[in-house]
Amino acid sequence: MATLTENLLGHLPYTEAPLSELEPVTADGQIKLRRAAAERFRAMVSAAQQEGVVLVPLSGFRSKQDQDYLFFEVKEQRAQRTTERALVSAPPGYSEHHTGYAVDIGDGHRPDTHLKETFEDTPAFQWLQKNAARFSFELSFPRNNPQGVSYEPWHWRFVGDRHSLQTFYRARQLTPRN
Ligand code: DAL
Ligand code: ZN
Repeated sequence: MATLTENLLGHLPYTEAPLSELEPVTADGQIKLRRAAAERFRAMVSAAQQEGVVLVPLSGFRSKQDQDYLFFEVKEQRAQRTTERALVSAPPGYSEHHTGYAVDIGDGHRPDTHLKETFEDTPAFQWLQKNAARFSFELSFPRNNPQGVSYEPWHWRFVGDRHSLQTFYRARQLTPRN
């Protein structure tokens, strides 16, 4: 298992993207990603669409305030213990969504699988597994990830430029390559 540097309940610290760097990826402008990620995400959606696969963004940039609600309020609503909540949600200040590089993706034809493990059985997930790397997106929390976060087949992050790469890889200690 990788040794992690500063973390809180397995989650790593991230700073919020400046609002001026964000671009909408939905028609209503509600979901935003950092510019480079937004461009590649849109290209990925078009490529998938040409093969009949509908990729839907469900969540993109989130402020620390958004995450504060998701972590603490939802935790209380569901009566979850802290360690239990941290398996599925990052504490505020520790979510990849703060960076504007992370996006939760759903299958437009299978809304019943949105943000569920069953998303892995959809054409959208299968398409992503095969093609996301062409657009520099990667799965953040595969099964048995070293952070100990629950498997999230819907949560992808952009690692296609220097800043995003540094954001996600600089903080980690080097582990032996296979
Ligand atoms: N669900 C992921 C871990 C987050 O809250 O950022
Ligand atoms: Zn996510």
